Amino acid sequence: MRAVTRTRVRATSLGTMTYGFETLAIHAGQEPDERTGAVIPPIFQTSTYAQDAVGAPRQGYEYARSGNPTRDALQECLAALEGGRRGLAFASGLAAEDTLLRTVCRPGDHVVIPDDAYGGTYRLFAKVAERWGLSWTAARISDADAVRAAITDRTKVIWVETPTNPLLNIADIAALAALAREHGARLVVDNTFASPYLQQPISLGADVVVHSTTKYVGGHSDVVGGALVVADPGLGDELAYNQNAMGAINGPFDAWLTLRGCARWASAWTGTATTPSGSPRTCTATPRSSGCTTQGCPSTPATRPRRSRCEGSAGWCRSWPRAASSTPWRSATGPGSSCSPSRLAEWSH
Ligand SMILES: Cc1ncc(COP(=O)(O)O)c(C=O)c1O
Repeated sequence: MRAVTRTRVRATSLGTMTYGFETLAIHAGQEPDERTGAVIPPIFQTSTYAQDAVGAPRQGYEYARSGNPTRDALQECLAALEGGRRGLAFASGLAAEDTLLRTVCRPGDHVVIPDDAYGGTYRLFAKVAERWGLSWTAARISDADAVRAAITDRTKVIWVETPTNPLLNIADIAALAALAREHGARLVVDNTFASPYLQQPISLGADVVVHSTTKYVGGHSDVVGGALVVADPGLGDELAYNQNAMGAINGPFDAWLTLRGCARWASAWTGTATTPSGSPRTCTATPRSSGCTTQGCPSTPATRPRRSRCEGSAGWCRSWPRAASSTPWRSATGPGSSCSPSRLAEWSH
């Protein structure tokens, strides 16, 4: 088994100390319930809260769109795992993306997006944000020069997924963070496919991390959700304001399920990334496919963990048909794919 030595110095409910990833996954934001001592955060399935007096909410909880203790627990845990200053949990990954876009961009601004962005992200830019007056250019995010060429004087955000869904392209987060800073833009990293277990974009200079918690973070294929984690608490406040104003919150039961996914993280990742003997999972040719890309697989030419600073391998892969070995065959999310997220979620049980 791979030994995870990664630690974080965090000022959380646990205090300011250094903790291992697994400890944060199990404890950050999840101290025993004050009233009962329950070690797992209760599901606060409530829409509103009694106040001690008019305008005097207990511990700040007033209305559940604005705040919920179960959601807070998840948000704090995700912020700790990503090494960010604030986490926010949303109804879905796309709800998180939408809230982020409408917070950091204005009509007339421009965004650089991956030329193989997740289809729903592409749709959000092409069919929704564009009508709102936001322009975008698609660039190959594994090529910093291509990203640089796509930047205009109105660019406010460089948006990357690394790895991308579906083609598993890898971006050099530190190089793109420097590029974004040079142009007064923000670097947003969709970390859905790597997860903070393997890659922490904020430590590499990213401003915002996006998650579809529907995938690895949730880990059980039983909940849809999204998250943002930010490096700058001021931006965190703006996003929290807009999350309440726009309303795309993560519900308490969904937050609880997602927290349970976080608690299983280390074992889930070790299981997806390695074989029982502890070596990286590799994929071999089959009668229908000639090879694959899976990060960490020694036989994979596109494996670039050092460049991406991704620590280790993951469970996703891309494969090609025998007939056209240069053509991507099935994405990691494709129907029937042997490495679909639902399959990975099975491994994570
Ligand atoms: C990389 C990536 N980002 C964002 C999303 C959107 O997330 P959700 O389906 O939770 O809205 C997905 C969904 O598959 C995804 O794969």
